[in-house]
Amino acid sequence: MTKMPTTGRTAPRLEASRADAFSESVIREMTRLAIKHKAINLAQGFPDFPCPDELKKAACDAVNADINQYAITWGAQELREALAAKVSRYNHMEFDPVTEITVTCGSTEAMMASMLALITPGDEVIVPEPFYENYGPDAIISGAIPKFVPIADNAPMEEERWKEAFSEQTRAIIINTPNNPTGKVFSLEELRFIADLCIDHDVIAVTDEIYEHILYDGRKHISIGSLPGMEDRTITIGSFSKTYSVTGWRVGYTLACQALSVRIRKIHDFLTVGAPAPLQAACAVALSLPDSYYRSLGKLYESKRQKLFQGLSEAGFKCHLPEGAYYIFTEISDFGMSDIEFATYLVEKGGIAAVPGSSFYSGGGADRLRFTFSKKDETLEEACRRLRELDIQD
Ligand SMILES: Cc1ncc(COP(=O)(O)O)c(C=O)c1O
Repeated sequence: MTKMPTTGRTAPRLEASRADAFSESVIREMTRLAIKHKAINLAQGFPDFPCPDELKKAACDAVNADINQYAITWGAQELREALAAKVSRYNHMEFDPVTEITVTCGSTEAMMASMLALITPGDEVIVPEPFYENYGPDAIISGAIPKFVPIADNAPMEEERWKEAFSEQTRAIIINTPNNPTGKVFSLEELRFIADLCIDHDVIAVTDEIYEHILYDGRKHISIGSLPGMEDRTITIGSFSKTYSVTGWRVGYTLACQALSVRIRKIHDFLTVGAPAPLQAACAVALSLPDSYYRSLGKLYESKRQKLFQGLSEAGFKCHLPEGAYYIFTEISDFGMSDIEFATYLVEKGGIAAVPGSSFYSGGGADRLRFTFSKKDETLEEACRRLRELDIQD
């Protein structure tokens, strides 16, 4: 047997891998910087207030009831059954909990597993831009070639650009409504237009609907998978993270016809084996909360949206009210700094972390910053006070 060296460390030989093709997450890096500089974290979208007491109790009860071993790999049966009932009621879609619902480690894993299940390297995937940061690396890891189409916040879709993006090579399109970072909520007409393109070009829609319950001004959530002809060509992704303020639990899911679910389940099994068992039990309890819970959630975020919007506007940021989700995507071109310079200045000197706009684009976005308002009122008030004190207006 070769003797292991007892002193010194040698670097292993590393060849280029897919990990070299993308950078670290800027959003998560901003959280690390917020901690380092003791800044208020308006960068990463997670609440600084507690989740509902019922959920905390349900999680503790599950641990105490010895639900501490692997759940069935595609998710605890009671959770899949509760999801099937919720999705029928809220999203107007029918899925068989036995074969068509897969519980994952957050929507992050759901998206990655879906892409790996769908893509043959070299396939094209349409990604509306700006996009949630993860979709870029998801495409690279799965071997897809991303094709970007613009989504303007607060303006209609440029239909011609969307039509041009679809080709013989297009395998899938990623939809995210309500949208991060723009706050756009896709209308029924827009979703019908996308659905028609998917049907005409035999393309699968992968739709990330993590903010489905965070909508403003009376808007209603529409799942593209509920539109005629889309039932079997949509993978709908959901998550407990945002709706129930449990981003650290890492429980999400996919809804897809059996043929797609068989593939997603295989990838999911070998990626993670399964999502945390006691938290799956608690998530089943979350789905039994009354409708008033969702109404209060919408109202809560509507008032936080107003607070941050006012603070940013008073500090000289150009912005508009988002239609859904919990971010304000500001324009910063008047301030004479790039997004990276401004975000660095803000976190180091201003005591506030925000996300540079360029992390939501394949190129461009240097004139934007994203702020989240998923924080306690006191946190937002202090952030607005710090913004006013910055004296950054030209
Ligand atoms: C659009 C979108 N998708 C997915 C995620 C990650 O969700 P999860 O915690 O379910 O993995 C986020 C988190 O901010 C998000 O904004």
